[in-house]
Parts: sequence; C-alpha cells; structure tokens
Amino acid sequence: MSEQLTKHHPDSPNGCDDVSKNVSGNPDFASILEARLSRRSLLKGGFGVAAGSFMSIGLSGCLSSGGGGGGANPAPAFALGFNAVAKGTEDLLRVPTGYTATALFRLGDPLNTTTPDFLNDGTDSAASFQFRAGDHHDGMSYFGLNSNGLVKDLNNATRGLLCMNHENITWVFLHSNAEVAAGLNNAARPVAMVDKEVNAHGVSVIEIVKGATFSVNKLSGFNRRYTAASNMTISGPAAGDDLMVTPYSNAGTATRGTLNNCANGVTPWGTYLTCEENWAGYFKRPASATLAAKAAAAQNRYLGSGASNGSYGWANPVGGDTSGTGLYDRWNVTPSGANSTADYRNAANTMGWVVEIDPYAPGTTPRKRTAMGRFGHEGAMPAKAVAGKPIVYYMGDDAQNEYIYKYVSTANWDPADANGGMAAGNKYLDSGKLYVATLAADGTGTWTELTITNPLIAAAAYGFADQADVLINCRIAADAVGATPMDRPEWTGVHPVTGDVYTTLTNNSSRGTTGLSTGGKSKALDAANPRYYNDGEGRTGNPNGHVIRFQETGGNPAATTFKWDVYLFGAENDQFGNPSINISGLTNDNDFSSPDGLWFSEVIPGLMWLQTDDGAYTDVTNCMMLAALPGSYGDGGAVSVNNLAVPSNAGANQTVNTFAGKAASAATLRRFLVGPKGCEITGITETPDGKTIFVNVQHPGENTSAANIAIPANFESHWPEGGNARPRSTTVVITKNDGGLIGS
Ligand code: FEO
Ligand code: CA
Ligand code: CA
Repeated sequence: MSEQLTKHHPDSPNGCDDVSKNVSGNPDFASILEARLSRRSLLKGGFGVAAGSFMSIGLSGCLSSGGGGGGANPAPAFALGFNAVAKGTEDLLRVPTGYTATALFRLGDPLNTTTPDFLNDGTDSAASFQFRAGDHHDGMSYFGLNSNGLVKDLNNATRGLLCMNHENITWVFLHSNAEVAAGLNNAARPVAMVDKEVNAHGVSVIEIVKGATFSVNKLSGFNRRYTAASNMTISGPAAGDDLMVTPYSNAGTATRGTLNNCANGVTPWGTYLTCEENWAGYFKRPASATLAAKAAAAQNRYLGSGASNGSYGWANPVGGDTSGTGLYDRWNVTPSGANSTADYRNAANTMGWVVEIDPYAPGTTPRKRTAMGRFGHEGAMPAKAVAGKPIVYYMGDDAQNEYIYKYVSTANWDPADANGGMAAGNKYLDSGKLYVATLAADGTGTWTELTITNPLIAAAAYGFADQADVLINCRIAADAVGATPMDRPEWTGVHPVTGDVYTTLTNNSSRGTTGLSTGGKSKALDAANPRYYNDGEGRTGNPNGHVIRFQETGGNPAATTFKWDVYLFGAENDQFGNPSINISGLTNDNDFSSPDGLWFSEVIPGLMWLQTDDGAYTDVTNCMMLAALPGSYGDGGAVSVNNLAVPSNAGANQTVNTFAGKAASAATLRRFLVGPKGCEITGITETPDGKTIFVNVQHPGENTSAANIAIPANFESHWPEGGNARPRSTTVVITKNDGGLIGS
C-alpha cells in the first residue's frame, strides 16, 4: 500500500553517425538503419517491405545533420525544432507553438456502440466498465492495421490498435457523490463499488482511425478490455508450481485479473507486454508474524509485515463473498483452510508479472510470463532483436531501494517468428535467464543470473525450493547475490543507435538515511545513487531523481558485464548555484523532477521522450514531458558530489565520486509538454511515420478530497472537459500543424 501511495503522492503519507567515418566503435549507417527497422520490419516478417518508408526518413535526417559526428559523441541527426514549453500550474495541457493536442480516449469512453456515453457523475454502472476506458491511463503501444482494418500492417500510420494500461483509480471520481460521502471503508465495501473499481483497472485494446484527427472505431471487433477479473494463463517455469495453486486453479496454471498495469513493452513478434507494478497493496493479509517462517519471509519482502485490509478493501464486500467463485475472497491471502486449494493464500503469487497480450487476436487469453520474474514491474523494454541472438528485456522494479533486472531468452531470434503471436511468446518468454544488476563504484557493473544453482541463492536463509520459487520470490534471490539497491527504477529504454540502456530512477526519500532497506541493504549513498540533499522545502534523500545509463560489454545485450554513468540528474533550475544538486546544468527550459516515463522513438533515431511523475516541483509546475537527444555512455566524466549532513554518514558531510554524462543543453533537452493540475504524464507511442504521438495524462485532479466531491469549485482539476466536470485520465493525440515530424 505504501508504494502505491508513494507513487501518486511522492511526499505525503498518504543519430545517425557520419556514414563515411566511424572511428569510435559506434555503429555504422547500415546497423543504424537495421536498428530502426528491427521492430516493425521484423514484426512484418520481412526486412525489405518496410525499408522504403524508413529509408526516406533516415536519409533526410542524416542529410539535415550536415554530416558531422563520428567521434565519441556523434552529432544528433535529428534536431529539436520546437520552442520549449514554459513550466506552469494552470489546469490545462500545454504543447509547443505550432502543435495541436486533442483528446482521444478518456476515462469511461465507450468501446462499442451499445454502451452509453459516459455520464461522468459516478453513476455509470460497474458492468459497463467492461466496455469503457479504464482509469489512470499509463503505458501504451500502437500496432498498425491495414487500411481495411482487418490485419496487421505495421507501417500504416492512419489505422491501428492502441493497447493501453489502466494502472489505478481515483476512487472519488469513479463513484456517485453519495457513495463517496459514505467513505472508503476498507472493512465493508459495497459490491457495486468494488466491481466498478476492479473493472476500471487493467488494459484497453482499441482500434483508432485517422480522419481529420484520430478517433476510436467503436464498431471494431478488436476492441476489448482486460480487467482485474479477466482470465489469465500462468505461463513459464512457475506455472503449475505449488506456490501458484489456488481454489481457482488447483493446477496453478491460471488466475483472474491483471493489476496495477504500469508501463509496457512490445515484442518483435507483434504482441504487447503489460507490467504489474504496485499490486501488493491490494491484498488483504495478516501480520506476517502469524505465518509460517517461509511464508512470512515472502510476505515481508513483497507485501509488508503488517496486517492490512488491502488498499481498497476488495476482500471485504458488504455481506461477504456470495459470488460462489471466490471473486472477492481471492483478494485475501490469509490462510484459513486446510491448504492452498481451500483459500487464496497464494493469490498474490499470481500478480507481479509481465503479461503478454496479442492485440491482433481478441480470442487469446493473456499469459503471465513467469520466466521474467515477479516484482513491482514498471515496464519491459527490449534490446534490438538480432537474428540468431537471444531476445533481451530490461526491467525496473519500482520501489525504494529495489533493483534493475534483465531477461535473456534461451531461444535465439528467428525472423520467421515475426508473425508468431502467442506461440512465439511461448518460445522466447517462457525459457530464459533472469539477471539482476550490481553497480560498482568504479563505473563497472555485473549482471548476476538468478538461478537456484547459484550457491548464494541455494544457501539463502529463505530456503528456496526450486527455480520456480526463485522466480516467484526473485527479490529475495537478488538480495542474496548482493544486487545494488537503486533510487526506484522506473522505465527502461534502449537507444536504437548506440545500444545504451537507460533507466529512470525517479526519486528516493530514504536514500542517505539510516537503517536497512526492505531487502536488508544499507540505504547509504553509493556511486550509482550519489545524492542526498534538502530541496529547501523539507524533502531529503534524492528528491528529484536521476537517469542511469548502461553500456553492455562488447555492445552485446546478453553480456554479463557493463559500464555505467548517470546520463542526467533531475533538479530544480533555481538550485543551479549548488553544483552538487543541479549536476546536469538544467535551465528554465529543461529542468524537471522525478523522471518516470522514458521511451525512444522507433522512427526518429535517438529521440528520447522523458515524462515526470512528481510531487517535489509541483509548487512551480505540473508534471511534464521533455524531448531529449542523449549522447552516449562516457560522454561526460568523473564528478564529485558534495552532500551535506548525511544521516547514513553519521550526520557528517559526504563526498561521493561518480560518473556523469555530458551536461544538458538547449540542443539536447527541451520541455515539450506540461499537463493539467494533479496529473502525471505517462505513456507514449507514435504512428510509424513519426507524425503523430499519443500521450497519456494520468489522474488529473487526484488530490481532490472525498469531502469536496459535491463542491466542484473545489476540484483540483476539471480537465479535459472544463467547467464543473470531474477530471478524467485521457489519451491525447499530438500532431504538428505543418504535418512534420514530432519534435522537429
Ligand atoms: Fe507506475 Fe513506477 O510507476
Ligand atoms: Ca510509472
Ligand atoms: Ca519545489
């Protein structure tokens, strides 16, 4: 529960290279082109088919660069061409002059023609949410359809499927005024309220078609919702394990629901990955001290040691669970029966996974890919798929002092699988190695495989039974091998040209404090998490976050060693006078706090989008999105960070030596968008021509109290409808008025 609250209330309790010369080991033009072609062309099942359209974009980009570069820091082929958007706290969405943003898909919007329009007064039925947009839009991906809307066409920029996560809810805006006035009593929840909340979570798949702008095709047979009650298959090494057995699936091979779907990912075979993040807080559980030792250790590491009714009390419907199927009891992990076929003690083991959905196959059941480990999954972003090489995913575990993971498939990529759907998923995502990152003070790093054959894991006090246990409780395995606790790992992204791996570390109020983390590790400063400061408003630790960058050894995503530096440090511009806070030299036009969403355009080489989920700089600005053109690993140098009065250093000052990327500049980092009040900006995808992006505005007005639900003037936000309307999480479509590439 705390992580869930932490996330939304971070501070409250509640290029193209020069083609002709390449002296640096950077990739040549052919491999750059291959990098950009990798996903969509491989998805299409043929390299040549897509080459024409991408080639034209790539060539114009390179020519416009003037042919510079070739050193350690190749000049970006693409130049940011918009004027930076100013910070601000108004209740509106700002984009640069010359750009237009329109709402596409708002909380409650119908997915079909038989569901009535959304009333947005809390009276829309629970059942109707099986056919409406869920709440808290998050990660999303665009999958092209052909012009008839029948089959996959990854190059079509005018018709496609959007797969979108609905992470959570703003409960006060989901229910009627009377229901909200009755309060959120976790010990007795009206069934209709629970059902609506369950149905407002999960994933939407919608077909969108471009006319004057994009709109949802409510007649599409692809449109559907997955909710926190939908059937899911448990796949991979943990499927069928004793720890997966529930009354719903005595075989341990199925479960109901996908939950707290945060960021996302795509596969080279054309499917969508949705990642379960802060699922732990939803479960009703006893104090772990009442449990057997091993179960207690697992609960301590994932759900917390204390008793709880769960964040929304879904296990406590008024009148008890009368469903006959355990629809509500499944949220209660308290042992009450003879074994795990008689109660839902293992239900939490069925959450916390990367879940694969085939957007093009509405009849398929989503599959939870257990080989990729169980934790607070932020997202899963792939390295470039290369024929004959493993498939690799990078994944953050977003909680304070948690770890960065990597999955490497056993099977090597065969482009013949590009249209393989879920069968390809079974091949590449059900067998592989799960690694965790350790970052050393000298700027090197190690990926350690989490396997029962590792003596440190085999000997762990927890007592791992087998590899399934290691995957289900991989945080404990990662503790055992000495992984490096990070400042809340969020999104990951792989630079399509350099192959460098970026991970946002959003903030960490416990960095530099005393005591041990949940994993039993020190929270002391280290080179990879080097800042402790007071932001002048009482926040300490690392209030503004940073972005770390890995260069895999030999440029091989499957390598077991890497080098790292800190690409960018978040900071408030007015801290510029303190070089140990604003290390990246941020200015009024690009300062930011709490980086979260991070995504590389698949069309424009090296264009990175950075999104914020912040509670530290919100007195000055609402959350935002910036465009970035990162250089490459090692483009900066050694830095000494002078931290004052660090608790974990006995209250004394502490200098930490680290490695920082080249300082930001107007050419490399620029604010593109600022959202409305109380929102987080999260989730981005694009059309394959690079001329339209889709961006999610999550939970505008989320700080509105239940006491104010009947007083619209007191709502924190009315966006996007304005007037007295309740605010709505919304997908916006952004285009450039001259029809150009986004960001130019
Ligand atoms: Fe759902 Fe860590 O953001
Ligand atoms: Ca996030
Ligand atoms: Ca501030």
